Amino acid sequence: MTPRSNRTMTRLITRLAQVSAQSALLAAAALLPQAVSANTGVALQHFSANSGNLPSAQRGARNFMAYCSGCHSLKYLRYERMGEDLNIPPDVLKKNLMFTSDKLGDQIKIAMPAASGDWFGRVPPDLSLETRARGADWVYTYLQSFYLDDSRPMGVNNTVLAGASMPHVLWELQGWQKKAEHAAEGEHGGGHHEGSGFEQVSKGSLTPAEYQAFVGDLVNFLDYASEPGKQARISTGLKVMLYLFVLLGLTYLLKKEFWRDIH
Ligand code: HEC
Repeated sequence: MTPRSNRTMTRLITRLAQVSAQSALLAAAALLPQAVSANTGVALQHFSANSGNLPSAQRGARNFMAYCSGCHSLKYLRYERMGEDLNIPPDVLKKNLMFTSDKLGDQIKIAMPAASGDWFGRVPPDLSLETRARGADWVYTYLQSFYLDDSRPMGVNNTVLAGASMPHVLWELQGWQKKAEHAAEGEHGGGHHEGSGFEQVSKGSLTPAEYQAFVGDLVNFLDYASEPGKQARISTGLKVMLYLFVLLGLTYLLKKEFWRDIH
């Protein structure tokens, strides 16, 4: 080959590599469309739930019991199991997390059945399988998307679940926000945090970043509740892989030993 055709070849190969890398990226992007709420079409914030983050799941459990268990049950989960999985000793569990029952073997039910049966026609759903049904992104975004809306009976609405009848139970932590005016969108002026579509009306006791972390803990806990055996499944899987790997090494050595005199 002449140096010239050589260069052409190199260029061709480089181009081919670029094209295939681009199409691989495009294919990957097509597989990962931006998640939107099925109910309202609002873009969801991404959150990779990690129930293996024990401190986070523990905080989530505590906060769920304090802020949510008044209305929402986790009927497929028992206190005892939760305590074992999340490493919460029974006495701490009984003292700090069990408001609805004093039996460790009980399922997690709602605190006040009479008071919480009906919120403007809606019964608060059981949340055992919530992150599996809606996805972690949905729950994560939902808990950050309550906003003031005079047209609603309680003055609150949610961009992810339009007409939600759940009150904004975390308002003391997040503060109040309203929908950003269309004209103001894209500007980064006073209190409007980028891309959220909301304007802060009053401050809560947590900063926006702290509130986000608080919601993340809740979602990690709900992710745990939706599949309590997940971490055990993952660690068993790893052990099995390790075992097979060691076995592979031994089998290879054995093969070498058998064939040593034949070659
Ligand atoms: C005062 C009662 C009450 C409290 C406390 C409460 N919720 Fe709710 N929640 C509701 C009601 C009622 C609905 C149903 C809303 C609807 O469908 O309009 C709901 C709906 C939800 C949904 C959406 C369910 C779905 O898939 O449609 C999630 C997620 C949720 N709540 C999470 C929480 C979490 C997390 C907490 C604690 C921080 C909490 N809720 C505290 C009453 C409550």
